[in-house]
Amino acid sequence: MPQNPLGAEKSSLDTPILCIDLDLMESNIRKMADYCKANNVAWRPHSKCHKTPIIAQMQVRAGAIGTTCPKVSEAEVMALGGIRDILIANMIVGEKKWERVAALCRIADPIIACDHFAQVEPLAAICHKRGVNARVIIEVDIGLNRVGSCPGKSTTDLAQAITRLKGVTFAGIMGYEGHLLRIEDPADKVKQISDAISILYHTKQALEADSIPCPIVSAGGTGSFHITAKLPGITELQAGGGIFMDPFYRNSCKVEGLDYALTVLATVVSRPMLDRAVLDCGRKTLNPDTHLPLVVGYPDASIKRLSAEHCELNLGPNSQDLKIGDKIELVVGYGDFTTVLHDEFYGFRKNKLEAVWPILGRGKIQ
Ligand SMILES: Cc1ncc(COP(=O)(O)O)c(C=O)c1O
Repeated sequence: MPQNPLGAEKSSLDTPILCIDLDLMESNIRKMADYCKANNVAWRPHSKCHKTPIIAQMQVRAGAIGTTCPKVSEAEVMALGGIRDILIANMIVGEKKWERVAALCRIADPIIACDHFAQVEPLAAICHKRGVNARVIIEVDIGLNRVGSCPGKSTTDLAQAITRLKGVTFAGIMGYEGHLLRIEDPADKVKQISDAISILYHTKQALEADSIPCPIVSAGGTGSFHITAKLPGITELQAGGGIFMDPFYRNSCKVEGLDYALTVLATVVSRPMLDRAVLDCGRKTLNPDTHLPLVVGYPDASIKRLSAEHCELNLGPNSQDLKIGDKIELVVGYGDFTTVLHDEFYGFRKNKLEAVWPILGRGKIQ
């Protein structure tokens, strides 16, 4: 008998496992897709939170135009999983990677981000030599101060230079307002995101004034998509993690209207003190860095400490009936850094196991 047979009750499964509530994830997917549609922007959700083609396919069925990936190898996984329109929203450097992009162009229609001619010229030469064409967009620094070309002449000059290359097509611009997600005051958040995104709007106008078509203007994350979707010039949103709706988005970014769908099922393995329980899920199961996990069903229990393979809980008076062997669920604080620790997602509907999906993009870091 398989260890975790489909149809099994969640509480009967061995632990720790990474669980998706399928009803909630599907509802989050629908809500994000519908929000984009209602605001007349395309949805190109970032796949870094799930790294799983089957979920990307569900997003496409709900209306997404494709996916956004951080790495060439993850894009390959998505392409092999049937996704064609893939934005690699990262700088791609090195002959081996440019060759991989050229090969990817045979099974998909990727878009590659860049912020310098040195990333594009060799890619174009390889694509041209291989008889394929890759779309390229320029990442503009809209204040995140990570990568990105400077707004203004540097960007229009780069776009101009790209349009002269064979093997690539200039497809537009992107920016990421990731530095503005946690602004507390709602009006200030809208103002600062609007100012940042207006850099993309003005860049598009400058490009078009130079007769360079700029069909794509891509931005947005889950922590800001409800604002960015409404801003002038934006054609598509990269928000992805909202399909799991982590506490990071709700508590730190004040995103509402989506439901927690990603949990870890764990077992109480020790009860050394009345007010302490220890679970079988440490940092090798659950990454606590961006936001601590939440304990489901025990409002006065909280995470005290995570070591490699132990999770210590502080138990308030209403949680002290927890005993060794009990199963307990933790809402993952921020999905991205936890998904990559697991081989599989366990998908549940009404607490019955419906699917086990391999996380095929796990380890795809090149
Ligand atoms: C380029 C880019 N776009 C979008 C996002 C937002 O992703 P998510 O919606 O999963 O938070 C990120 C997050 O790091 C990013 O780096």
